[in-house]
Amino acid sequence: MQLYFNLHPCAAAAGLTLFECAELLDIKVPSSCRKQGKCRECLVEISEGMERLSPRTPEENHLREKFRLACRCKINADAGIVRCHTLRRSEMRIERHAFELPASHKKISPDPAVTRDGERVLLDGIEIARSTAPIHGLAMDLGTTTVVVRLLNLETGEVVADASFENPQRFGGSDVMARIQFDTHDSSKLLQRTLVGYLTHVLEEFPVDPLTIYELVVAGNSTMRDIFFRLNVHSIGQSPYRSITELEMDERKRTTTSLAETAKKLGLPIHPKARVYGLPIISGHVGADAAACMLAVDLANEERNVAVMDIGTNTELMLGNKHKIFAASCPAGPAFEGGAIECGMPGLSGAIEKIKLADDGSAAAAVIGDGLAEGICGSGLVDLLSELLRTCRINSLGRFENGDARFELDVKGESQVFLTEGDINELAQAKGANVAGLQVIFREFGISFDELDVFYLAGGFGRHLDIESSKRIGLIPNLPVEKIVQVGNAAIEGACIALLSRTKRNELEALVQTVTHCRLEAHENFFNFFVEGCQFNPVEISRVLKHS
Ligand code: FES
Repeated sequence: MQLYFNLHPCAAAAGLTLFECAELLDIKVPSSCRKQGKCRECLVEISEGMERLSPRTPEENHLREKFRLACRCKINADAGIVRCHTLRRSEMRIERHAFELPASHKKISPDPAVTRDGERVLLDGIEIARSTAPIHGLAMDLGTTTVVVRLLNLETGEVVADASFENPQRFGGSDVMARIQFDTHDSSKLLQRTLVGYLTHVLEEFPVDPLTIYELVVAGNSTMRDIFFRLNVHSIGQSPYRSITELEMDERKRTTTSLAETAKKLGLPIHPKARVYGLPIISGHVGADAAACMLAVDLANEERNVAVMDIGTNTELMLGNKHKIFAASCPAGPAFEGGAIECGMPGLSGAIEKIKLADDGSAAAAVIGDGLAEGICGSGLVDLLSELLRTCRINSLGRFENGDARFELDVKGESQVFLTEGDINELAQAKGANVAGLQVIFREFGISFDELDVFYLAGGFGRHLDIESSKRIGLIPNLPVEKIVQVGNAAIEGACIALLSRTKRNELEALVQTVTHCRLEAHENFFNFFVEGCQFNPVEISRVLKHS
């Protein structure tokens, strides 16, 4: 979806930034740095009136001619029109599908909570409507950055339609902490209402009457899920980082962290008596998306040692089998999503996603959309780091061997994309958090990497990673490739399974209560693991020793 704003500059607008002009017009521009020129989320494309804008600031030097940062760029005229819009969100690459999972909504016998008895539509056996039309349900993977929705026929188990879009709550910041802060200070629940508005548009484009949708199952991290249910998320942002549902369980006010509300109460335009079911969260930031992944990899019935890693601004880790499961959440930050990197960008059209370097330093690169390179996204950053290491241009500490401060990427002589030592430092820290998480969870569980049978890489980022590059820089353990499975969006698959099967839903409710949550920050060796993990070395299988 695109957001446009037109400015009719006058004496009052001259000297204001585009961001300030947008605020005057009550238009939200994405930001998580409070207009400091650091987050680059306020990127806008100028389609008219570039000559009426101030000269580029140092923070904007890497941007191609049409792009500016709304918080840096000022109106430099007192007449005329400036027209611009935020990034082309509709072109964002979002992983809608799952691959090579042991469990799937296609493999189960439908046993949904919504059933039919003639014309009577029943929810848990209680009549909520009368209709002869097919009965439908929705599954949603509600991520901080992206949202994926599937519409299913509850009688046949078939997927009728699906959709994905960038989470419109980005104006409240790009990470969960920024969203918590925004939501806590906003009694109008603007984040939730904005998302419901986007969902309404999605449902309008689906080929069924929204009033035939009788249940919605929500998988999402703890913060996204609780914001959607209009709960107070303040406690998730404060140590020990717990959802209000966990706190209420401690006080014996509830017996599960799962949630149920009517669609009417949440303002959703489906059947007003439809149930909105939030999958249970595991603990802290290990949320309902991780729980959905457990269903998709069938952990409740798994004998082998299985790990699941979903790399993101908050990486989630699970390790275990049907007998014992450990989980952890690693605060990796936005670097591997392109945030905090000078030429970084999300997986949008124009992002470099794959790179190989030749001996002369020239690069062969794949650009999303096949156009000119505007920046570099997460999988491209992993490739670039790996290639800089392989060709000995950087050392394991991330320093350039030739003493330069940055590496200019030469793609057909056209690219203006570069990587600085500061960028490499950001990526090293994000990697360090992930590696420390792996080290802690394996030690706590009591196995070494070589005792692992399957390593599932979940999520859109994990799906597009080059495995050899990831192993070379030490982002994932140095395991045999046959043990690594890139499963894509396992969370939406798990949400579909929970929508179609009460048996599986109950299985998950019981399973999450058995999971041991490893609090990384409390582990005595976390800092040492983090420092070691910041180095660009393969994470070898012999480096985790059995817990004594
Ligand atoms: S708001 Fe402009 S860079 Fe962050």
